[in-house]
Amino acid sequence: MSPAHPATADNLARSLAPNDLDAWWLPFTANRNFKKNPRMIAGAEGMHYITPEGKKILDGVAGLWCCNAGHGRKPIVEAIQKQAAELDYSPAFQFGHPKAFQLASRIAALAPGDLDHVFFANSGSEAVDTALKIALAYWNIKGEGQRTRLIGRERGYHGVGFGGISVGGIVNNRKFFGSLLAGVDHLPHTYNREHQAFSKGEPEWGAHLADDLERIVTLHDASTIAAVIVEPMAGSTGVLPPPKGYLKRLREICDKYGILLIFDEVISGFGRLGYAFAAERYGVQPDMITFAKAVNSGTVPMGGVIARKGIYDAFMKGPDHVIELFHGYTYSGHPLAAAAGLATLDLYRDENLFEKTRAREDKWADAIMSLKGLPNVLDIRTLGLVAAIDLASIPDGFGKRAFAAMDKGFHDHNLMIRITGETLAVTPPLIITDNEIDELVSKLAAIIKSVA
Ligand SMILES: Cc1ncc(COP(=O)(O)O)c(C=O)c1O
Repeated sequence: MSPAHPATADNLARSLAPNDLDAWWLPFTANRNFKKNPRMIAGAEGMHYITPEGKKILDGVAGLWCCNAGHGRKPIVEAIQKQAAELDYSPAFQFGHPKAFQLASRIAALAPGDLDHVFFANSGSEAVDTALKIALAYWNIKGEGQRTRLIGRERGYHGVGFGGISVGGIVNNRKFFGSLLAGVDHLPHTYNREHQAFSKGEPEWGAHLADDLERIVTLHDASTIAAVIVEPMAGSTGVLPPPKGYLKRLREICDKYGILLIFDEVISGFGRLGYAFAAERYGVQPDMITFAKAVNSGTVPMGGVIARKGIYDAFMKGPDHVIELFHGYTYSGHPLAAAAGLATLDLYRDENLFEKTRAREDKWADAIMSLKGLPNVLDIRTLGLVAAIDLASIPDGFGKRAFAAMDKGFHDHNLMIRITGETLAVTPPLIITDNEIDELVSKLAAIIKSVA
C-alpha cells in the first residue's frame, strides 16, 4: 500500500462502529456468518485488496470478474474525478453527452462483424433483460409477434431480473420467486465429469448437446421462438467452458430456424478469455452481446447490449419524433461510467492486456492443474484467465468445504477467491504477473489442504 493510500487503519477504525454491521443486508451472502467475522475490505491497489488493519489480500477474482485492469489504476481514477467535476450527470432520455457516444463507438469497434449498436444499462442483469426485451420487440416489429419463447440453459446465470432468472438455470435463483416469465425453455448444460474431467480449455466432448435445440424446436415450433441466450462460458455455476464446436453448432441451428442468438458476455467480455469478446475467440457471431463488469474495470456501474445492425435498423422506422424502443434507465450511459470506460479501454489497449492473457493461457492452465491430486480435488477446469476447482463435499453439508476455503483464504492466507456450491473459482485481474500466478497457486494449495 502506498503511504498516501486513504485506507489506513486509523481512518477506518474511526469510521465503523460495531452496530454499523446490522443495517446492510448483503447480497448473495451468508449474512449472519459474515457479521460474526466480517471479511472487510477498505482499500485496493493493483493486484491487492487492503483490509482495515492494512493486510494485503491477493485479489484472485478481479473483485467479481470486474477489475480486469487491476485496482486503483491512475488513468481510470483521474478520468472519473475529472468527469465528476466536468459533467456529473446528464439525462439519456432525449439528450446525450459525448463520452457515451464515444464509448459506444469504441465498444462496437471491438465487437465482431456488424454488432454495431450499443444500448447502455447499469448492470449485467439489466443488460440481459434489455437484450431479451429487444429480441421480443424485434419480432413484433418484424410482424412475427408470435415469436415470444425464450430459450436459456440449465446452469446458466443471467443476473437477477425476472427475465434473467427465467432464462437462467440455477434452481436457488428461481424457486423462491413464484411464477417466472412464461414460455421459457432450457437447453441442457454442457458439463459431464465422466467425459471432461481435468480438461484444459474447451473439452472435446459435448458439442452434440447443442442439438437439443432441435428437440425444443420440434416441441414448440421455430415460429414461436424469439431467442436463445447462453453464456459462451458458463461462469457462475462453476466455470463450464463450452465443448469444442458447441457454440458454432448452436449458431447453425439458430440460423436454420431464424432464431436470434444472444451471448451473455458479462464475464467473458473485455479480455477474460484473451479476446475482447468470446464471440471473437470462437469465431461465432451472435445477434446480441450483453456486457457489464470489466467494461470499465468495475469502477462505476455499467452494462449494456451490443446489437447487430439489422436489429437496430428494424427499429428505426415510423415518424422520427416517436421513440423507437420504450425502454431505458435513468443512469443509461452515465457520464462517470462512460469516462471510466474510455480510460479502461485505453488501458487494455496500451498494455495489450487481452493479447497477454491469450499468450499466457497455457502457463496459467499448467499452474492451476498442478493442484490435481490434492485432497478432495475432483475436477479442475481452465479457460483464458479463469479456473475452477471442484472439491468433494463434507458429508454433513453441501458447500461447507468450499465456504470454509473462501473464509480461510481471506482470513488466514490473504487470498480472495469466489465460491459456488463446492467449486472454487479463480479469475484474477489481467495484470497478474507470472510470480503472482505462482503465489496464487501456492496459496490455493495451502487453502485446499487446510480444509481437507
Ligand atoms: C453471465 C452473467 N450475466 C449477468 C450477470 C449479472 O450481472 P450483475 O450482477 O451486474 O447484474 C452476471 C453476474 O455475474 C453474469 O455472470
